[in-house]
Amino acid sequence: MEFYKKCSLKEYNTFGIDVSANLMVKYNCEDELLAFLEQYHKEMPHLPLLHIGGGSNLLFLSDFPGVILFSEIQDISILAEDEDTVQVSVGAGVTHDDFVMYAIQHGWYGLENLSLIPGQVGSAAVQNIGAYGAEAGDMIKSVQSISLQDGTKKIWFHDELAYSYRHSIFKDEAVRGKYAISYVVFQLKKHFIPCLNYGGLKASVQAKQIPPEKLSATMLREIIIETRQNKLPDPKVTGNAGSFFMNPIVSVNVMHQIQEQYPNAPYYEVDSEHVKVPAGWLIEQCGWKGNALGPAAVHDKQALVLVNNGGATGKDILSLCRAVQQSVSERFGIQLSPEVNFIGKA
Ligand code: EPU
Repeated sequence: MEFYKKCSLKEYNTFGIDVSANLMVKYNCEDELLAFLEQYHKEMPHLPLLHIGGGSNLLFLSDFPGVILFSEIQDISILAEDEDTVQVSVGAGVTHDDFVMYAIQHGWYGLENLSLIPGQVGSAAVQNIGAYGAEAGDMIKSVQSISLQDGTKKIWFHDELAYSYRHSIFKDEAVRGKYAISYVVFQLKKHFIPCLNYGGLKASVQAKQIPPEKLSATMLREIIIETRQNKLPDPKVTGNAGSFFMNPIVSVNVMHQIQEQYPNAPYYEVDSEHVKVPAGWLIEQCGWKGNALGPAAVHDKQALVLVNNGGATGKDILSLCRAVQQSVSERFGIQLSPEVNFIGKA
């Protein structure tokens, strides 16, 4: 276990916001976390506690006047397997993309489309990360957690996890911030069936002149990585948190109104009465793509991503967020909800 007092959080959030926390605690196993929690409840129960992952979905608005927990649980083990599937337990501190690569190397499939998404496995399970027609929650069998209040262990099975678009039970008010995830159990396939439903993926495969029967998981991973790199800024170079907003789900009627003015507006069907509209498209129509407000800007290749052009504070990013929300609301009557979690006071 490692303790860092007055710790800078700049390296722990992909926006690169320069704030600090009173204390950061990095733990390597459940027992270390339990030992720290005992100490915390005795010595510093008044301090707020925040568990972070890769910091790829956080916006710090101010210094954090409390304790940051960071998991370095790294073990990966097979719990069960048969001819077709494998159940793998993965430490919450494993970098998500490292596990995607590890899984492909071991002949376990299903996660390819989630290649290169930043963050840790624990946060992937909280956030139900998704991309190119796949969602992590679909492959998560259970999640092991430790209560930050009393140190008890709890296993959540798939049906309890309430997975939906960018949502899990860990984001619900009653549960949020109360558990540290220690392990995530994935159920993966041993036969590779490519998921190419997402617009553009099939075309990318064809453009590479790969015959469908020759497409391997490694090739698909490379295509996904290339696609992401073409559109999304590298957080190591330009601070950002991926999609800043969720794609709003609106009624079919609202979509019809949009189509009257924009017949080619993109959308994805959700059910017979609802569609999801790409927030990046809405933001682009409002003229924000590539534009800045102080040191914060809307990315020039994907308007759903807000970037730190250097030295931005959380409040700078928040001002841009509000300005973008206002434009979209005024033009389309749609309220964009941030996907990113705001921490601290504005
Ligand atoms: N679009 C625009 N202008 C833009 C951006 C997008 O017109 O500036 C249009 C595109 O032309 C396309 C549509 O919007 O028709 C969808 O764009 P894209 O494929 O880039 O996907 P997205 O809906 O904007 C979502 C996820 C991404 C994920 C991609 C691919 C959310 C909030 N975001 O974005 O996730 O990589 O699909 O599956 O659902 C993330 O969560 O950090 C993230 C990057």
